[in-house]
Amino acid sequence: MHIRNSATALLGYSFGLIPVPLCAGLLLWVAGCARPQSVDRATLLARAVTLTPADPRLADLYQHACRACHVVATSGAPLTGDRDAWQVRLNKGMPVLVVSAIAGLNGMPAGGQCVRCTADDYQLLIRFMAGEGQ
Ligand code: HEC
Repeated sequence: MHIRNSATALLGYSFGLIPVPLCAGLLLWVAGCARPQSVDRATLLARAVTLTPADPRLADLYQHACRACHVVATSGAPLTGDRDAWQVRLNKGMPVLVVSAIAGLNGMPAGGQCVRCTADDYQLLIRFMAGEGQ
């Protein structure tokens, strides 16, 4: 009787608690699927590796720094040219993004491996990666 009660309590506990994160996950998943996906990820990746800033100086900075991660699917970085991913970032405001680039953010190293970049360069590089003007 005691064991059965514990088991019931445990079951009740499990059913009470576990579904919450499950439902939250499911909701996120459904929301993610419901969002109109203009371009699939494979296409975004294939495109990201082909993109280069038109300005030669900016292209040089980009090739030697940002590109190392921002065209790599597993890096966790928003892909170059992935407008949807960048729009989420741009919503924070450009000054915040420049600070992130300079100070670093999680997997994003401080300065983004660019020792020559100025604050203006970061802004231009971010605009380029966000797909503005492409
Ligand atoms: C070593 C890999 C790496 C390099 C090199 C790199 N990034 Fe990133 N970057 C990341 C990752 C990972 C993220 C996602 C960080 C997160 O949101 O957790 C990121 C995110 C960002 C963000 C979004 C920050 C925010 O606040 O949401 C900006 C802006 C950015 N990178 C700019 C740059 C620029 C500009 C360069 C080149 C000068 C660069 N990155 C180089 C890995 C890198």
